[in-house]
Amino acid sequence: MRNNQSNIKKAKKYLDNHKCIGVPTETVYGLAGNAYSNIAVKKIFNLKKRSYNNPLIVHYHNLSILKNDCVLNKKFLLLYKKFCPGPLTFVLKLKKNTKISKLVTNNKKNIAVRFPKHPIMKKLLKNLKYPLAAPSANMASRLSAIKAEDVREEFGSKIKLILDGGKCNVGVESTIISLVGKPKILRLGGLEVSKIKKIIKEPVLININPLKKNAPGQSKLHYSPGIPLRMWAKKEKKDGAFLALKKKKNKKKNYFYLSSNGNLKEAAKNLYKTLRIIKNKNFKNISVEKIPNKGIGMTINDRLTRASKF
Ligand code: TXA
Ligand code: MG
Repeated sequence: MRNNQSNIKKAKKYLDNHKCIGVPTETVYGLAGNAYSNIAVKKIFNLKKRSYNNPLIVHYHNLSILKNDCVLNKKFLLLYKKFCPGPLTFVLKLKKNTKISKLVTNNKKNIAVRFPKHPIMKKLLKNLKYPLAAPSANMASRLSAIKAEDVREEFGSKIKLILDGGKCNVGVESTIISLVGKPKILRLGGLEVSKIKKIIKEPVLININPLKKNAPGQSKLHYSPGIPLRMWAKKEKKDGAFLALKKKKNKKKNYFYLSSNGNLKEAAKNLYKTLRIIKNKNFKNISVEKIPNKGIGMTINDRLTRASKF
């Protein structure tokens, strides 16, 4: 459903009635519900088949409602000023008298918050009196959705409304930084860590071991296309697809690429899209060429590593 005022109104009506809807963000599509409503938040977990010990990110328009829910600190304000709205999520301390549903944070004292940049999501948030809890709009441990049709493919008629914001610009999830205690990156994402380091001017720990079990949202089997995936490959395997970083002269039907000229940002944008296409063409496995581990290439490799644990 395309963006216009009546669709935003319709979306607001659904959300005010504790229902979940699909929403576009600049990173990936989200499955959104009122973060103050236990009913709405329960629906999100049920629809995604997500475990309650994996907390949700809460989306805000700006600081005005956020101030009621969590404690802001200096580093947060610095990063907020520089990068928000944008693909960065902050873990902050919850305020005691917050209205955030306890289910969102798994009853913990910290909360993950972010300020999405997509104009439709911004407009929607501006029209609401509450923030939106929204995990990525995919079934737990599967590929994230980067267009409205992907959300439909994941949930079918189980969700009644998806705001169509076209294809996501960034194409991978937000970077997550914890600012409770020493700054710590919890997930690589759409914003390069080097850019964050330049602003914070103090050591930033990176705690993202893709093979570690039970860290929130860092389960081994994540972002999976549902078929075996192999990294650092030079060629395809039997009945499989080959995924290259850069377009090369190759007319084979099982050959795919992430970027026309090897640009890593473009590659990140095309990552989930291309994996979804390969999966839907019924290939039995995917072999992926080596991707340079720098800038957003680190995020691509993080997602591929997790997907390779299928
Ligand atoms: O780009 C994004 O961040 C997208 C769009 C829709 O905003 N959302 C997204 O949500 O990727 P989700 O639920 O797929 O991933 C959220 C991650 C999980 O790994 C979760 O464990 C972590 O955020 N998280 C949420 N709350 C947390 C908290 N209080 N402390 C630490 N990690 C948290
Ligand atoms: Mg997700």
